[in-house]
Amino acid sequence: MPELKFAAVEKELSRERLAELLNEDLAREYQAIIGYVVYSQVLSGAQYMDIASQLEIHAKQELDHALTLSRQIDYLGKMPAVVSKTVRTSKDPKEMLRFDLENETETIRNYRDRVRQCEALGEFAMAEQIRQILVQEQDHQIDLATALGEEVPDINGGPQGRVLSKRR
Ligand SMILES: [Fe+2]
Ligand SMILES: [Fe+2]
Repeated sequence: MPELKFAAVEKELSRERLAELLNEDLAREYQAIIGYVVYSQVLSGAQYMDIASQLEIHAKQELDHALTLSRQIDYLGKMPAVVSKTVRTSKDPKEMLRFDLENETETIRNYRDRVRQCEALGEFAMAEQIRQILVQEQDHQIDLATALGEEVPDINGGPQGRVLSKRR
């Protein structure tokens, strides 16, 4: 009965555990900042000019996400994390973009859980802040999938089977 087990876990979720999970999210935001700072500058070739400038915008948005999360973690009475998750690098532009896409997909999966967890704890304002971050992460995911000429990965309830067309 996986649903029952999940419900039990949700019930037991404490503010302390939520702060720990938000710190994992923060470490993923640091990873995204570093990844986008580097990838936006090293991606070369005419076909990547568009996405490189988009990645610069992503880098700044990820910094805003990190600030929002730090504020929420502090509000929960915990110290915000200072260590990033590992950043993968590659000399192959496609591979770099794929790493970004995988990370965004993982991030989105986590924020969807986090919204439900915040609501389960009655932290509705926090849930709203994470929803706003989620909207931007989904845009990042779409930018990357488009640059790779792929469909947006389908995670439960996401933009399923969305056909990507050139945005410009
Ligand atoms: Fe982010
Ligand atoms: Fe992102």
